[in-house]
Amino acid sequence: MTSSSFNAPIISPSILAADFVRLGEEVQSVSNADWIHVDIMDGHFVPNLSFGPDITAVVDGITDQVLDVHLMIEEPEKWVETYAKAGADCIIFHVEAVEDEQAALDLAQKIRDLGVRAGFSIKPNTPIEPWLDKLSHFDLALVMSVEPGFGGQKFMPEMLDKVRKLRAAIDEQQLETIIEIDGGISAETIRESAEAGCDAFVAGSAIFKKDDKAAEVDNLRQLATL
Ligand code: DX5
Ligand code: ZN
Repeated sequence: MTSSSFNAPIISPSILAADFVRLGEEVQSVSNADWIHVDIMDGHFVPNLSFGPDITAVVDGITDQVLDVHLMIEEPEKWVETYAKAGADCIIFHVEAVEDEQAALDLAQKIRDLGVRAGFSIKPNTPIEPWLDKLSHFDLALVMSVEPGFGGQKFMPEMLDKVRKLRAAIDEQQLETIIEIDGGISAETIRESAEAGCDAFVAGSAIFKKDDKAAEVDNLRQLATL
């Protein structure tokens, strides 16, 4: 698959906010979403633990949706094959978790060689500028609009400056790199994120805390359609 096979806006519900006891039903309740966002936390890169490749494989087994796997882990290079085997369609690693810029480019290539879309993510305090001339190596750029580690936090609107810089660079270089935003996305914040240039929107609590989750996916998609 190439990034051009997707049409913005892409809504990617984060199952971190789902009821894990009913995970199968929860995933099915958002079958109208474009992607499913899978947050992997190791208790080291971020101060929280979530789930790993086994749960990722279970989710892959119950849906045909694109699995958007967000690795918030140290040493991501040791894990990408495992997550590719578990069914990831897109693997996103944090640039703060790799040695240097060259290591990030090498890891992106390794992910692409596995037949998986390669993404990088940056935490709120990490500047985007060093990555603007390296976007052709990536299928996706994920801007964190909260500190990674927990769902349900408040959106940081100042992160949209990074989105605007990414949008300008991607358009100028005529790339198809997808811009995704993650953290605090809701009916209140999705429109301004779309206007700043985002293509894909992760939403955890905004979707899974609603009674009618499918309706909220449609609502968010409509709000993000410019
Ligand atoms: C945070 C995760 C997010 C989280 C988003 O570290 O990367 O994907 O699940 O949750 P909400 O949408 O509730 O902010
Ligand atoms: Zn995430």
